[in-house]
Amino acid sequence: MNPTVRTPPKPWAPGSWQAFPAAQQPDWPEPAALDRVLDELARQPPLVFAGEARTLQSTLATVADGHGFLLQAGDCAETFDAFSADSIRDKLKVILQMAVILTYGAGLPVVKVGRIAGQFAKPRSLPSELVDGVDLPVYRGDMVNELGFDLDARRPDPARMLRAYHQSSATLNLLRAFTKGGFADLNQVHSWNQEFVARSPSGRRYDAVADGIDRALRFMAACGIDLTASSVIHQVDFYTSHEALLLGYEEAMTRRDSLTGCWYDCSAHLLWVGERTRQLDGAHLEFLRGIGNPVGAKLGPGATPDDVLALCDLLDPGRVPGRLTLVARMGASRVEERLAPLVRAVRDAGHPVVWACDPMHGNTFVGPSGHKTRRFDDVMAELAGFFAVHRSEGTHPGGIHVELTGEDVTECLGGADEIEDGHLHRRYETACDPRLNASQALELAFQVTELLRG
Ligand code: PEP
Ligand code: CO
Repeated sequence: MNPTVRTPPKPWAPGSWQAFPAAQQPDWPEPAALDRVLDELARQPPLVFAGEARTLQSTLATVADGHGFLLQAGDCAETFDAFSADSIRDKLKVILQMAVILTYGAGLPVVKVGRIAGQFAKPRSLPSELVDGVDLPVYRGDMVNELGFDLDARRPDPARMLRAYHQSSATLNLLRAFTKGGFADLNQVHSWNQEFVARSPSGRRYDAVADGIDRALRFMAACGIDLTASSVIHQVDFYTSHEALLLGYEEAMTRRDSLTGCWYDCSAHLLWVGERTRQLDGAHLEFLRGIGNPVGAKLGPGATPDDVLALCDLLDPGRVPGRLTLVARMGASRVEERLAPLVRAVRDAGHPVVWACDPMHGNTFVGPSGHKTRRFDDVMAELAGFFAVHRSEGTHPGGIHVELTGEDVTECLGGADEIEDGHLHRRYETACDPRLNASQALELAFQVTELLRG
């Protein structure tokens, strides 16, 4: 048996979460229809293989060890409408660009994990939404209901889970083709720079990095190194992840691995639990603790050292490096004060976690225009605080977790384009939280490179 696969200490089954309180689950109107969908999902092929999840876990183990950096990025909420080959390609382009900037600038291998091919369900702060005196159930992601503001649209429909499964499958198929079939080849590094990005200061800076990579490849070839044979140059390992929110869906996608006998949630390589569903006695942690995939947990400003140690013991009792990624999302003004005690406690208890920073979710506010937004400067300030904490505690700032799109949207304020609140309406397209556009994402990658260099 693979020694990195953990055995749950208490009895566990894919459905054992059902005996625990499950936060943030939709009120499905027809239980029989839900059961039919879950049965059908359970008969569908897995989206990922257990072996791939294990490879990701061992790669994350090198990050936990301080020898790599995690780049987890993608949509806040994927949607059925914004589904196209171009949008998948453009999102992949910006993630590949960020990875190149980080690898080239900081000299660390970058583990690339998308919030993609399954990121369809959203936890919400309130169960209903009041607009002009009309109160309707809140939008919970395309996997559950529709964003449109009428009663029909907001009624949860379990058939949407099947549609999300099929869209995830098509998305993953394209991602595999792009990353293994030549598109992600380092010789293509210039072609990932989209025209609107290339005009921005960070796009021009990216071109200079790409020139450097071209020169390095030519230099190696001239020295007689046969680069045609090296898959590292021509292919990229790209993994998928989403929040494991709808536990019925995740249970239906959980399969026993024939090689190890362990259970894997085959809906994605990595699953995480959100800030609103990480209750120690809740259904989400019960589910996550039994799957063999690498898992993550978001930690907001209310998390205490005791909470976090209990969460580590529950999700990673075997202390397997790479098994657990803790994603801090504290807010720029609180990160140093709130994160330091957690990092210290986890370090002193000897849990070999990956520490990542989500600099987005603690910095969201509604601007005068009524749009939910985030300031680029707050995002960078939270990242700087995260790095400062790790520097002072002697731990590794292991990665970033960001919401972005490959398009030229106007959802977050600032950046080189100096997007202001009054500009947000121009291209505000997110179904949930405001995302960095492609040039803001590159700008962030350059600044993170500087933080990584110390
Ligand atoms: C999210 O990642 O979109 C999210 C809802 O995050 P959090 O659980 O940290 O609030
Ligand atoms: Co979000």
